[in-house]
Amino acid sequence: MNTLKILGTLLATLVLLGAGGFVWARGKSNEILDRRLDVHRVDFPVPFPLDPAEIERAGFTPAQSDSAALARAMERGRHLVDSRFACTECHGEDFGGGVMVDDPMIGTLLGPNITSGAGGRVVSYTPSDWDRIVRHGLLPDGRPGAMPAQDFQGMSDQELSDIVVLIRSAPPVDAEVEAPTLGPLGTVLMATGQIVLAYDEITDHERGHATLPPVTEASAEFGAHLATVCTGCHKADLSGGKVGGGDPSWPAAANLTPVAGAFGDWTYQQFVTAMTEGTRPDGRALVAPMDAVVGYTSNMTETERQALWAYLRSIPAQATEG
Ligand code: HEC
Ligand code: HEC
Repeated sequence: MNTLKILGTLLATLVLLGAGGFVWARGKSNEILDRRLDVHRVDFPVPFPLDPAEIERAGFTPAQSDSAALARAMERGRHLVDSRFACTECHGEDFGGGVMVDDPMIGTLLGPNITSGAGGRVVSYTPSDWDRIVRHGLLPDGRPGAMPAQDFQGMSDQELSDIVVLIRSAPPVDAEVEAPTLGPLGTVLMATGQIVLAYDEITDHERGHATLPPVTEASAEFGAHLATVCTGCHKADLSGGKVGGGDPSWPAAANLTPVAGAFGDWTYQQFVTAMTEGTRPDGRALVAPMDAVVGYTSNMTETERQALWAYLRSIPAQATEG
């Protein structure tokens, strides 16, 4: 449904229902947020160790192999955060806290401090706690969190572990970040199911996670893995449409399937220009929120862009549904 229409319907509903309706909405949204939920418990090493064959080849001592594993994980984690998993967008460049939404009507949804400083929330986090919030949207106490975990669900254990290494290496920041609160409109949207929490959006919480990502090469298989961060807006089949829960001023997400007369006519070079400079073949700039996404895709490697392209050209052409 079109977001403006939703807003209109809601305002009309609010007027009709009046204060009684609002009390109901407040109760209902509290009920949604105060649930205690559970998902599988997983474990993985932080950092991931080197491959034994590599240790053997390099003739590393255990200490050398540990420090090489840590350095490698940190480098991979930095690249993942800069090119794909935009943790810093909401948690701040230094991970000390940031803003997801700050609007008197919708609410104040701040990204918590995830450093080891005073007010940092992850000091006692285990790998399972990281899995629960990042790939399932559950806080350590089992409450569903207001974080878009559906975008991170496809992360392999190694990728999550790499990101944890990067975050743990960040200098401690002392900052108390206030817990999320919903404004009047946010409360009604939550109560009526127009804002859906990541936990509820993810359909299968028991499915296992891959240990490693696919091999880094210009293949459609690796491209499909990279594209899991595009589907939140461009839809699971990449046919595009209105961005669910998005800002009403955003245009529909483009159809990224090979439709003739549209994206299907693009060349690889035109795709690269869009991903690095944020401009379309006709010279028009991509607008919000895609312009912000380009801040990340521009940091992808050539191999990653080739893999994404190979995948986007391997999927069937599909009309945009809505
Ligand atoms: C679009 C904004 C956004 C992005 C992107 C994002 N987060 Fe969050 N994150 C939030 C918000 C908002 C919360 C608070 C959730 C709550 O308390 O309901 C949160 C909560 C968390 C928590 C839980 C802290 C606690 O209170 O225990 C962790 C850990 C976390 N995020 C890590 C990450 C990591 C790692 C990434 C990148 C892979 C990431 N986040 C990306 C918005 C975001
Ligand atoms: C936060 C939502 C969001 C995410 C995530 C996102 N996109 Fe987009 N994308 C959009 C929107 C909205 C548009 C339309 C922008 C416009 O009309 O200027 C768009 C447009 C595009 C276009 C232009 C296509 C055309 O025919 O005009 C390309 C290419 C694209 N996105 C690729 C990607 C890829 C690849 C990813 C994942 C790496 C991605 N997008 C992730 C929202 C998003």
